[in-house]
Amino acid sequence: MADQVVWITGASSGLGLHTAQALARNGFQVVAGARSFGKGKQAEGCHCLPLDVTDADSMDAFVREASAFAGPPDILVNCAGMLILGACESYPLSELRQVMETNFFGQAAMISRVMPLMREKGHGRIVNFSSINGLLGIPFEGAYTASKHAVEGYSECLALEVKPFGIEIMLVEPGDHRSGSRAYRGHSKGITDDSPYKTAFDLGTRVIAHDEDNGSDPDRLGEKIARTLKKKHLPRRLRIAKPDQHVAVILHDLLPNRLFEKIIGSYYRKNVR
Ligand SMILES: NC(=O)c1ccc[n+]([C@@H]2O[C@H](COP(=O)([O-])OP(=O)(O)OC[C@H]3O[C@@H](n4cnc5c(N)ncnc54)[C@H](OP(=O)(O)O)[C@@H]3O)[C@@H](O)[C@H]2O)c1
Repeated sequence: MADQVVWITGASSGLGLHTAQALARNGFQVVAGARSFGKGKQAEGCHCLPLDVTDADSMDAFVREASAFAGPPDILVNCAGMLILGACESYPLSELRQVMETNFFGQAAMISRVMPLMREKGHGRIVNFSSINGLLGIPFEGAYTASKHAVEGYSECLALEVKPFGIEIMLVEPGDHRSGSRAYRGHSKGITDDSPYKTAFDLGTRVIAHDEDNGSDPDRLGEKIARTLKKKHLPRRLRIAKPDQHVAVILHDLLPNRLFEKIIGSYYRKNVR
């Protein structure tokens, strides 16, 4: 795999860091990008460069420096992401935009920069991090869920368009995993003490935090992505989740909406410690 160059975004923390390190352990040559890499942070086995996927100059500099170091990428992994927990009604537009800028426009902007390099090579692979929330909605993740649905739709279109150039697209759809940093899970300014959503928000976000704290092992996800990237062909979707989250996706598609929403609604109103 030493001749396979991977560029990965959002690699300073959580699943991006675990994936970057797993790829390096598996012999890929990894160039890792994140804003924290401009402040001295490192990812083991990777060449780390500063990268802000919401800033055109930063992305251009990353492409220049990564190309100079390792040459054009065989694989781009778009992992940078963030979450602002809030109620759909009261998200300030600035927060919705911030989440879309990072989770969706950031991926699209990196893809636009990398596609000409891959076309020139005549092959390439692009891995876009989505989420189970790219497939179904849960309360108080409206901004995030919208951004991940955008990633899903965009990636399906992209796959059809770039196949003739020998470029494959894979969506990674993780369920809850441990180690996502709380630093990237802000609460919306719209949730004030007198918000009509406050009680439901406190209950719901406690369930969300509990599920993530008890989520799957991020190292196993990294290893699974590395194994998949060694295969001759990529699946369109790599869903990496606990059985109950697989079942939730199936029920979402099978059950009448009202029944599914009743089940999900009561799940996020339960009391957890
Ligand atoms: N953890 C989970 O359970 C879970 C579940 C489903 C999907 N996901 C997806 O997996 C990915 C990683 O999430 P996570 O929770 O594991 O990680 P995380 O701990 O929340 O870390 C987020 C990463 O994104 C980077 N990032 C944020 N804004 C950025 C920007 N503007 N430019 C470049 N990098 C940026 C951060 O680095 P800097 O701050 O250093 O830039 C950090 O490395 C995300 O796409 C997320 O949606 C995670």
